[in-house]
Amino acid sequence: MKNREDQDRHLPFSLPAGVQLGAATAATQIEGGEVVHSWSRWADLGHTKDGSRCSPACDHWNRIAEDTALLAEVGCTTYRFSVEWARIEPARGVFDQTAIDHYRAEVVALNDAGILPLLTLHHFTNPLWFEDSGGWLREDSPEIFAEFVAHVVRNLGDLVAEWIVINEPNVYLFSGFTIGEWPPAHRSMRDFLIGARNLIRAHKRCYLTIHAMRRELGRDDTLVGTAIHIRPFDPYGGNPLDRLVAAGFNHLFHDMFLEGVVRGRFILPLRGDSATDRVAYRELRRRAGATGRYSDFVGINYYSREMIQFALGGQLPFGRIVQSSGPDRNELGWEIFPEGLYRAVKSSYQRYRIPVYITENGTCDADDRFRARYLYEHLFQVARLATEGVDVRRYYHWTLMDNFEWAEGVAARFGLIHVDFGTQVRTVRDSGRFYARISRERGVTPACLDEFTDALRHRGVLGSGLP
Ligand code: GCO
Repeated sequence: MKNREDQDRHLPFSLPAGVQLGAATAATQIEGGEVVHSWSRWADLGHTKDGSRCSPACDHWNRIAEDTALLAEVGCTTYRFSVEWARIEPARGVFDQTAIDHYRAEVVALNDAGILPLLTLHHFTNPLWFEDSGGWLREDSPEIFAEFVAHVVRNLGDLVAEWIVINEPNVYLFSGFTIGEWPPAHRSMRDFLIGARNLIRAHKRCYLTIHAMRRELGRDDTLVGTAIHIRPFDPYGGNPLDRLVAAGFNHLFHDMFLEGVVRGRFILPLRGDSATDRVAYRELRRRAGATGRYSDFVGINYYSREMIQFALGGQLPFGRIVQSSGPDRNELGWEIFPEGLYRAVKSSYQRYRIPVYITENGTCDADDRFRARYLYEHLFQVARLATEGVDVRRYYHWTLMDNFEWAEGVAARFGLIHVDFGTQVRTVRDSGRFYARISRERGVTPACLDEFTDALRHRGVLGSGLP
């Protein structure tokens, strides 16, 4: 094992021409405004750790021009963001034109700034009319969601070529339906599985809908995928039971979703498509001219890994998460483990042989002590993957600026840019400047290493949890 000093020595590296750098955000986390939806209600009921509400967040709704300029300043040539379903469709089948016009203006601003948009259609939040009528447990939830998606594509499809249908169906279901820490706060493995089937069905229907509608507009550059959170579960010990439980979690949390959204397959224990789905797909496939697959790229959100031990009565069925021995963690206690990014991307590329987009990667570091180093170490893995022939095309840093971090509230800071939530003043962090340099110089040059030596020396915090 390398000693600490060796680990502190950094080598320059270049990013291959095919890799584009960007940042990712989500509507609920940045926009602010008194919009009523599943997350605003949840926060208003007092479920965030620091008591924060979804508004004002970053007041991004009123600061499109400023934030677009900041994206360019930190070196982003592409931007992943989401639209808020509850703003666009405040009641079922009722669409608010002003909301759509707003997003249209945002996309125009991005295009004018030379920043390629990657638009997410569902990022954790539902309108209450949907949530309270059964939400993703409804058998017809895929049709309901696809009607909303068709409306967005009708209005933005001439300007947006690249789409993420659903952000992290696995995290959404695990947090909201299994451990009950997010809305709708169910604690049921059965609901997790019903929701998984419905979200995969929704992905398939929307994949075909987006392709069909854009083809009818004469566009042939459409790319659609879904972002899956990959958090490798490694067995804690050599014990075969630890290995078995870890494999079970990898199956339920990763493989089930990847197989669903990439190949359209429902693997055990999921039930398959309904008869109505099959009829709808046939018609959409004819219009889309689509081949058999359901993703044009694999979207991977990667932050950390978990060590799993067999246990009865742990947080998970037959298992519990144990702290790994790795000393470097972020402020939420997540192990900093760049090798995990390499493994996640490599194995999905080997399995599916379609391009990989790293749709999220980042860390919680309020004082920007180790974010530059985190960036260096993870981008190093991206360069390594590319030299090994893995077709990785995008890296989106999570996130552009500090924002509303769901149950953690605004206390957990993941931004390349610091936000003062009282005054809404944004300040680019050193790590943001480092990222801009990497993007402009297409890698880490010796001069850049010299300039950021100090920032790169700092490792993650020891211990876990926000101070
Ligand atoms: C997720 C989401 C983001 C989070 C980010 C940091 O991965 O949970 O896509 O919305 O803010 O991951 O936790």
